[in-house]
Amino acid sequence: MSTRISATIVVILGIALGLIGCANPNPQPPGLTPIPSLAPVATGTLVPALQPSPAATKPAVTLNPAAAAGEQLYAQNCATCHGARGEGVTGLGAALRNSQYIKTAGDQAIFATIAQGRKGTAMPAWLQANGGKLTETQINNIITFLKTLQ
Ligand code: HEC
Repeated sequence: MSTRISATIVVILGIALGLIGCANPNPQPPGLTPIPSLAPVATGTLVPALQPSPAATKPAVTLNPAAAAGEQLYAQNCATCHGARGEGVTGLGAALRNSQYIKTAGDQAIFATIAQGRKGTAMPAWLQANGGKLTETQINNIITFLKTLQ
């Protein structure tokens, strides 16, 4: 009789333990967040190495033809007052490098400033039609160059 009872208790205990084990296969101390299982390592072909693009093999700075022409015209006509690198000359002309004006004014307004000059300042009119010595194309080339300094 008592052997049957103990056997029954063992069976019940076994079932209970089994149930606990099923319910919580990965027991953690309370308060700890379970470690997420690692994502499976991706398999498949490796990404081929990138080929250097043709642009990357070119020299660092190459001005486009318009900007290159503008750079020359700038050196000949503007550098005395605005600085060889557009840095400005104290008491003469404003900086045209990193210039808020060149960045924001818009091509039309910049063209007008150069073409007509600034009345009341030493900035002369440059467009031939206004008595200056530059053509429209030349002024546009200078503007293209000035944009490279921003
Ligand atoms: C004799 C000196 C002189 C020369 C040469 C000259 N500038 Fe100027 N420029 C000025 C002055 C002065 C101003 C008025 C703003 C200032 O006080 O710098 C000015 C203003 C400007 C501005 C407006 C800048 C701003 O922030 O409002 C531009 C753009 C400009 N010049 C471009 C040129 C270009 C391009 C040339 C050559 C084609 C040239 N300048 C030649 C003196 C000169």
